Amino acid sequence: MVQIQPSPQRTGGDQFTIKWPSRKFSGLRGKGKSLIWSLAMAGSTGVFAEIIDGDVFKYYADGEWKKSSSGKSVAIINPTTRKTQYKVQACTQEEVNKVMEIAKSAQKLWAKTPLWKRAELLHKAAAILKEHKAPIAECLVKEIAKPAKDAVTEVVRSGDLVSYCAEEGVRILGEGKFLVSDSFPGNERTKYCLTSKIPLGVVLAIPPFNYPVNLAVSKIAPALIAGNSLVLKPPTQGAVAALHMVHCFHLAGFPKGLISCVTGKGSEIGDFLTMHPAVNCISFTGGDTGIAISKKAGMIPLQMELGGKDACIVLEDADLDLVAANIVKGGFSYSGQRCTAVKVVLVMESIADTLVGKVKAKVAKLTVGPPENDCDITPVVSESSANFIEGLVMDAKQKGATFCQEYKREGNLIWPLLLDNVRPDMRIAWEEPFGPVLPVIRISSVEEGIHHCNASNFGLQGCVFTADINKAMLISDAMETGTVQINSAPARGPDHFPFQGLKDSGIGSQGITNSITMMTKIKSTVINLPTPSYTMG
Ligand code: G3P
Repeated sequence: MVQIQPSPQRTGGDQFTIKWPSRKFSGLRGKGKSLIWSLAMAGSTGVFAEIIDGDVFKYYADGEWKKSSSGKSVAIINPTTRKTQYKVQACTQEEVNKVMEIAKSAQKLWAKTPLWKRAELLHKAAAILKEHKAPIAECLVKEIAKPAKDAVTEVVRSGDLVSYCAEEGVRILGEGKFLVSDSFPGNERTKYCLTSKIPLGVVLAIPPFNYPVNLAVSKIAPALIAGNSLVLKPPTQGAVAALHMVHCFHLAGFPKGLISCVTGKGSEIGDFLTMHPAVNCISFTGGDTGIAISKKAGMIPLQMELGGKDACIVLEDADLDLVAANIVKGGFSYSGQRCTAVKVVLVMESIADTLVGKVKAKVAKLTVGPPENDCDITPVVSESSANFIEGLVMDAKQKGATFCQEYKREGNLIWPLLLDNVRPDMRIAWEEPFGPVLPVIRISSVEEGIHHCNASNFGLQGCVFTADINKAMLISDAMETGTVQINSAPARGPDHFPFQGLKDSGIGSQGITNSITMMTKIKSTVINLPTPSYTMG
C-alpha cells in the first residue's frame, strides 16, 4: 500500500546568511535598517496606507481595517532572507464570531442586490487590482519568494479571473430551468416547475501560500457574484499580498461586512473558523489539512483541492524536445511549488536516455537565486519545506537513484535536481516534494506507467506525450486523475476550465463556472394548476 507523508509545513524557518545581492541588507543598523524597513513596507503606502498600523498589517472586518484586541501578531518570514518581513494581526475567536455575525446580515442584503450590480462591482475590483499589480506583486516576492515576473502575472491573472467571473455569473445565474409535470409517468400537465440558483450564505475561503491572491479570488469572485458573503482566512505566508488584494475590493465599494479577512494562527482560529455554525460553504486549497477539515466541517458543501503527484507518461513516438520543454516548465516553475507541477516522469526505457539528456540540458540553463532577480528557481517557502524536500532526496540517494545534477542547498534555496532511475521503493516516487526535485521512472510498458499513476493516493492531473491521438485517448481514460493533458504539462488554467482532483486530491470541481454553481443551491417554485393546462381550446 502506498503511504503518503503529510505535506511539508508552509511556515517556519531559522536564520541564515544569504549569498545573493540581498546579503548586503543583513546586519545593517541605523540608516541601513530604515532602508530595509522602507523597502519592506514599499507596498503599503499610498492607497494601501490604511491597511497597516505601525509594523503590523490590520485585518478587515465590517468594511474597516482593524487592530486585533489580542494585541498579538504573527510574523511572516521572508523565505529568501529568513528574517521577519511582515507582521499580521493574530485575530481572536471573538473577532471571528463578530465577523461571522456581520457576514450573515450583509449577505441578506447582498442577495437582494441585482446581479448586474454585483457584476459591476466585481469589474471595478478587477480593474483596481490590476492597477495595483506592482505593490501586490512585491508582497508575493517577499512573502513567498515568487519570481518577480510570475508575481505580476498572478495579480493580472487574478484581475482577469474576477472579470470573467462577473460575466459568467451574469450569464449562468440569469438562467434557470422550466419543467412540466406530464413528462413523468402518472402526471398530467398540472405542475410547472421553475428553478433558479440562490446563494448558500457565508462562504469561507482558505487559499494556500503558493497563489495567495489568485486562489483567493478564485473563491471570492464566484461567491460574491452568486450572492454570498465571504470570509477569507489567508495563508500566513502570503497574508499581506491577500490583504492588499482585499483592499482593492474595499476600494471598489462593496457593502460593509460582505467581505472580511481574518489573519492569525491556524492553531487558534483554524478549527474555530471551519467548524463555525455560521459558515455555509468552505472552499479550501492546500495540503492534507483539507482531509481533517472535511471530517469536522458538518453538513455544508465543500470544495477542496489538496495537491497532486501529477505523472507525465512519455511514449516512444513523442516529440522529445516538446516533452523536455514541458517537463522543465511543468516540473520547475515556481520551484515546483504548484499542485499541478509535473511530479513524476514515467518514460519508456528505449527513449529514456535521450529524454533525460534533453531535460538535463534545459535544467542547466535554469537560473537560481532570489525572486527579486526573477530567477527561475527561488527559495522554497520555509525551512521545514526545504528539510522535507531534502529528506526525499536523501532517501532516493540512499536507495540508489541517479543524480543528474549535484544536490545543492543553501538555506531555503534548493538547486533544481533531476533524479533518474527512481524505483517504486523510494519515497520520492510517491510523495509530493513541492520543490525543485523531479523523479524519473523508466517503464517498459504503457500499462506500467498507468499502473504507477493510478497507485498514487493523489489524482489531480496527469499528462501523456505521444503523436498518436488514439493512444492518448485510451491512456487518458485509463488515468485516474481529474484532468489529463495531452502533449502539454498539467496546469489549472485557463481559469474557466474545470479543475478537480480525484481521491486524496480533493472534493468537487473548480474553475469559474463550476465554482459559481457550487456556491449556489437550487430553488424551485412550482405552479400548481387545478386542471391540466392543455385542456382548453
Ligand atoms: O492549486 C493549484 C495550483 O497549485 C496550480 O495552479 O495555475 O499553477 O496550474 P497552476
